[in-house]
Amino acid sequence: MAQVYQPAEDSYFFSKFLKNYLSKNKINSYLDMGTGSGILSETASKFLDKKNILSADINPDAIKIVKEKGFSAIKTNLFSKIPENFDLITFNAPYLPMDPREPKDSQIATTGGKYGDEISIKFLTQAKKHLNKNGKIFLLISSLTPQDRIKKFHPTFVAREKIPFEELLILEFS
Ligand SMILES: C[S@@+](CC[C@H](N)C(=O)[O-])C[C@H]1O[C@@H](n2cnc3c(N)ncnc32)[C@H](O)[C@@H]1O
Repeated sequence: MAQVYQPAEDSYFFSKFLKNYLSKNKINSYLDMGTGSGILSETASKFLDKKNILSADINPDAIKIVKEKGFSAIKTNLFSKIPENFDLITFNAPYLPMDPREPKDSQIATTGGKYGDEISIKFLTQAKKHLNKNGKIFLLISSLTPQDRIKKFHPTFVAREKIPFEELLILEFS
């Protein structure tokens, strides 16, 4: 059984960024990929109706928690079970390179693959097909995530925050 990711510095940084973005930009549909505890869905629900928010995660325990909070939630590996398009898609991705010392049950939330960028790349490859016209994607990675392959998707770096041992980065794709 995998642990549900408890909000940490990256979650709070992304939540603050999302709150600021939604206070200035009106959207009608939002996908919270990798919802975990649902922190970003909860932030978005201050700006748009819960029925226009979809929370998605590969971890069934995360889905149970966000459903209990009243969100529509789907257990899915990235977009495999998601046919819809959205005005906004966010993903606080598992972004760290594989570390054998990391417990198996937290790897799903933290580890992006052998190098750390693999899940982000899969996400970006699929996400662009799920955007409405003028839609946006925000992806959170870290200075510890390899960036060369991610840069091929033409991101704009829109926010940064230093935390101990790494810098958090929010990238925009449209
Ligand atoms: C760093 S946590 C972020 C959780 C929450 N959004 C937050 O900001 O606190 C990454 C989340 O992505 C989920 N995840 C990992 N791989 C996934 C996949 N292939 N498809 C969907 N969700 C995935 C994990 O289960 C975890 O909940």
